[in-house]
Amino acid sequence: ADAIIVNTCAIREHAEKRALSIIGRYKHNKARNPDTVIGVCGCMSAQEHRSEHLKRSYHYVDFAFGTGSLHRLPEFIYGALTKAKRSFVLDTERPQIAEGLPVVRECAHRAWVSIMYGCNNFCTYCIVPYVRGRERSRMPEDIIKEVRELVESGCKDITLLGQNVNSYGKELDGGYDIAYLLREISKIEGDFWIHLMTSHPKDASDALIEALSCKSVANHFHLPLQSGSSPILKRMNRHYDIDRYLEIIDKLKRQNPSITLTTDIIVGFPGESDEDFEKTLEVIRRVEYDSVYSFVFSPRKGTPAYSMEDQIPEEIKKERFERLTELQNEISRKKNEAMVGKTVRVLVDGKSKNNDKIYTSRTEGNKIVHFEADKDYTGQFINLKIIRTDTFALYGEI
Ligand code: 5AD
Ligand code: SF4
Repeated sequence: ADAIIVNTCAIREHAEKRALSIIGRYKHNKARNPDTVIGVCGCMSAQEHRSEHLKRSYHYVDFAFGTGSLHRLPEFIYGALTKAKRSFVLDTERPQIAEGLPVVRECAHRAWVSIMYGCNNFCTYCIVPYVRGRERSRMPEDIIKEVRELVESGCKDITLLGQNVNSYGKELDGGYDIAYLLREISKIEGDFWIHLMTSHPKDASDALIEALSCKSVANHFHLPLQSGSSPILKRMNRHYDIDRYLEIIDKLKRQNPSITLTTDIIVGFPGESDEDFEKTLEVIRRVEYDSVYSFVFSPRKGTPAYSMEDQIPEEIKKERFERLTELQNEISRKKNEAMVGKTVRVLVDGKSKNNDKIYTSRTEGNKIVHFEADKDYTGQFINLKIIRTDTFALYGEI
């Protein structure tokens, strides 16, 4: 390649370690061909200490910049090609939204559309507000135009992205909110699903819950819990307690009993006692999520939780993580089993990697369904009858 650009994540230490090791590999590329342009972008490089480290210790890296400077990529490449300068750019607090950047989409039938950038919440464990800056929403007309064009081009599943899509539009003039956006998008003609990723419980308004029943909005809601213990939620600066969280869950289930519910959970937050952890398991049992994305707490330099007392030893974090996974697997297995005999609508993704005759697809709630077919239905909605299941997937027939 003439140019190698490593896009990085900073959410947990593991992601940063992997990024640094990948960047390290490219030293040889530069040695073999000094004209190769090498850059680093994304959240890891938006942190001052990482940017400095890349500049000082990775001499073959020509530039590094955060997500808010993506529109300046041509300038950085030009600087590298003309050997004029190495650029190490930290984003400003409130970067502008650059509309109209060219997009290459790998998949024709699923797409991700950012509706807002940044985060104002400062959960005490989280690096995002520091690397992404404050909340900025795109104008509704720009989003609606992009979604309409995607639907017209045959896209069937569109995920609206933001760190907290529930606060969409708050800083725009015009009184826009996420419920308005969902209603407007639902007016677009066509057969497609809209997913949201991700929602903060403190902002999950009744208006949003009502808007989930709009025509194109998928029957799925991802509501990050983080912890089942109210005192821990307080230390996480989450601005809700367990009663409030469960109230939202009950409302969602009442409105649509067949809704798929998923969540994010952090185990081993500083000060998490056995009792706090048991409370998390209790919520999991009570809600019966379809799936849980669980993470071991990873201290992020610059966040309040990094220097909190009572850090939990690694073995205890690991043990709690395993117990949680085991419980959730049991629930997922049970929920999947209950699907046997039912007919579900799926969006077909294509042939399975390991078997030419088997196709993979996903339900509206993002459950994977494998099935056999002689004809290629990739990118289309079809109905499958579920014939068997396991913990992680369903198996169906046309
Ligand atoms: N350690 C572990 N998990 C984290 N997350 C965010 N920050 C951390 C951290 N420091 C998790 C949260 C969030 C998801 C995207 O990543 O659960 O919802
Ligand atoms: Fe991080 Fe999400 Fe909290 Fe924002 S709302 S600080 S992105 S966990």
